[in-house]
Amino acid sequence: MARITAGIACSHVPAIGVAMDTGITGQPYWRPVFEGFEFSRKWARENRPDVIFLVYNDHCTAFDASCIPTFALGCAAAFAPADEGWGPRPVPVVQGHQKLASHIAQSVILDEFDLTIMNEMEVDHGLTVPLSVMFGEIPAGGAWPAPVIPLAVNVVQYPAPTANRCYDLGRAIRRAIDSYPEELNVHIYGTGGMSHQLQAERAGLINADWDKAFMDKLVNDPAAAKAISHLEFLRETGSEGIEMVMWLVMRGALDEHVTEVHRHYHVPASNTAVGHLILENHA
Ligand SMILES: [Fe+2]
Repeated sequence: MARITAGIACSHVPAIGVAMDTGITGQPYWRPVFEGFEFSRKWARENRPDVIFLVYNDHCTAFDASCIPTFALGCAAAFAPADEGWGPRPVPVVQGHQKLASHIAQSVILDEFDLTIMNEMEVDHGLTVPLSVMFGEIPAGGAWPAPVIPLAVNVVQYPAPTANRCYDLGRAIRRAIDSYPEELNVHIYGTGGMSHQLQAERAGLINADWDKAFMDKLVNDPAAAKAISHLEFLRETGSEGIEMVMWLVMRGALDEHVTEVHRHYHVPASNTAVGHLILENHA
């Protein structure tokens, strides 16, 4: 039987990918950001998954205003890195896991979550940056260490799904993976965040107190985390802080009680904070 053994929360700040791709991670500005991932890379080597289920949002690369799926499941054999305006990141093509993705699509849709099925999709920094920080630079011609099933969540165009809906979808994904007959060790990633606003009067907003309290709630009191309203996300975390609902999908797929094995929080990274958690299931 497939099992979800761990959940990873991780910001997907595009500048982190640029810092890696241009070899400047040792500079004073970036060093503390990447030092917080040193444990994570060691943990990732020692706890290698068979499959990664990665919840992220597309940033007008695979989708634009002509098509806005709320939840889009990547069922393709492979997902090419997208051209985000400066060319695609120099990272490997992401290999999918079509058998498990198809099983999840069937299970979750029959569980009354109406997913969009993507048999072709490019993936942007929202998906590749968390992989890069966890697995480091992949040498030319190399491959990511595991296949990835992407789930793209609309958090760009309101209305985004609620935190509660995202948590419940995580529960359904857990049921789907638990019912897959093959022995697979699955890690689930929730990406995006933390507090940030990119435009208008509050551009540059970072609310570290709220971010840290959110991380506490997510780990130890998920019922409180999933009850956070859109209005609170907007007021406390700026217009782009709504990305944190994607962490709720990850949390919903884990046990009620989890072990926090690592936490990293650092301000600033580009115009946001970096937040990162590694949570393990007990069973
Ligand atoms: Fe994002």
